Amino acid sequence: MSSARFLRSVTLAGVLFAVAGCKPQSDGQTSADVPNGEQLYTVHCANCHGPSLEGEPDWRQRKANGRLPAPPHDASGHTWHHPIDMLFRMTRDGIVPPLAPDGYQSDMPAFAGTLADNEIRAVLSYIESRWPAEIRQMRAQRFNPPAP
Ligand code: HEC
Repeated sequence: MSSARFLRSVTLAGVLFAVAGCKPQSDGQTSADVPNGEQLYTVHCANCHGPSLEGEPDWRQRKANGRLPAPPHDASGHTWHHPIDMLFRMTRDGIVPPLAPDGYQSDMPAFAGTLADNEIRAVLSYIESRWPAEIRQMRAQRFNPPAP
């Protein structure tokens, strides 16, 4: 990681911590191991999803082979639309039934066997930590509403 990017991510994390009241907010389903998650992301995900979670260029256009490029995991993508449990299963098992039709062809690898469950949770915590506070609050309401 370049030092400029490192400084930027430290600054962003500082802003998010301040917004969230000095405590990283989560929808309560991921671990809080964000630093470990960032390292794992860099090693295992950044190649396709981009070092800054920006996704592949033209990620909405199918490739010549009919497959979709890797979408961004930052707020410009659709990762944040899905509950953590679904993101966890897509990362562990790949984009396979029941989350995709039978025979669906995808370049997203299954990480079962490469990453332990708690490592997958750490990566997802890191991704989640990069979403703006409004998105995280909205997710907390939608996916993990407070008990009535
Ligand atoms: C070899 C390239 C590649 C690597 C490495 C990779 N991905 Fe993906 N990923 C993709 C592609 C391509 C898609 C879109 C698949 C599709 O929809 O057919 C995708 C989709 C996803 C989705 C679904 C997003 C959504 O909104 O539907 C998640 C979650 C995801 N990846 C997480 C990860 C995580 C976490 C890592 C690292 C542990 C990772 N990916 C590593 C290529 C990759």
